[in-house]
Amino acid sequence: PPTAETKVSAAPASDTITIGHIASLTGNEATFGQSGDNGIKLAIEEQNQKNGIKGKKLVLKTLDDQGKPEEAAVAATRLTTQDHATVLLGEIASSRSLAMAPIADNNKVPMISPASTNVKVTKDGDKVRPFVFRVCYIDPFQGTVMAKFAAENKKYKKVAVLRDVGNDYSVGLANFFTAKFKELGGEIVDDVSYKAGDQDFKAQLTKFKSKNPDALYVPGYYTDVALIARQARELGLKQILMGGDGWDSAKLYEISKGALDGSYFSNHYSPEDTSPVVQDFITKYKAAYGAVPDALAVLSYDAAKVAFDAMEKAKELTGPSIREALEETKGFKGVSGSITFDKEHNATKSAVVIGIEKNVGKYATTVNP
Ligand code: PHE
Repeated sequence: PPTAETKVSAAPASDTITIGHIASLTGNEATFGQSGDNGIKLAIEEQNQKNGIKGKKLVLKTLDDQGKPEEAAVAATRLTTQDHATVLLGEIASSRSLAMAPIADNNKVPMISPASTNVKVTKDGDKVRPFVFRVCYIDPFQGTVMAKFAAENKKYKKVAVLRDVGNDYSVGLANFFTAKFKELGGEIVDDVSYKAGDQDFKAQLTKFKSKNPDALYVPGYYTDVALIARQARELGLKQILMGGDGWDSAKLYEISKGALDGSYFSNHYSPEDTSPVVQDFITKYKAAYGAVPDALAVLSYDAAKVAFDAMEKAKELTGPSIREALEETKGFKGVSGSITFDKEHNATKSAVVIGIEKNVGKYATTVNP
């Protein structure tokens, strides 16, 4: 009879390639993780239909970090040292990608963040992290997009800022927006904080009321932003809100119940984009999941595709070899646009501005870098 040992050697690990994914499948930002995982699953299925990579099938291992940076770090260590993941995909949220990045570097496993926009994600102080990449633009650009939109398109003169102080993304984006809006002649009449998960924003909003700004800039995540909008209306504030990609979730509309009508946020993609790559992806995604993909689904699909492309081109399936191939990625045709990594491992891409009308996000404009 076969011993336990022969059973193990009958299915050597080298027959498959493990793709690690770290995502917030639960918690306050659960739609980020769920959409991202859906996008990655589609990319893996497609690749396996083409016989995988270098003749090996891909196996996805997703770990839930519950939206916590410390759990993202634990998951990164586990995927790299125990599960021998060939690449790491994730995270969406910058604070969680920042927790993963040193672990990817130390273990020489390439990490691709689909959507983390904070400048520091691909950097270790002044140096570039050799193993960390992202397929999206960064916040100096995203902050500029909405500052210009506010000052030039909307002719706003006075804006109040409400930032999530425990969130690297929110703090960075608030700073970049502020710098650009001032440079364009605008005034920040107030700048106050909240913490993710807060339920009562009335003190901050009451303060804003007395300053009478033209609009509020709230670069947070969808659950908090939706509550902030509702409480602003309850207090009689009529001003619109502006924000960034962190607003993107079907839950934003569910929770805000129309309180965000007239508001705007910057994002990475619009489902109204009529280009065939976008529309084909939407058709595929709808067939698989019965919903229109959000930016996280699109960017996560693209992150996986870019990883597979580099793995195919790499001399061997080792971290250093895949990393080199990633650095050479040029003009990769993603659903979210063309992807070329610059010296700091960032992708330079356009942003779209989404306006909310009758509780539906509508394409407003595209801003090129
Ligand atoms: N850019 C956000 C961050 O860095 C994450 C995000 C991207 C959220 C796109 C929603 C949509 O934290």
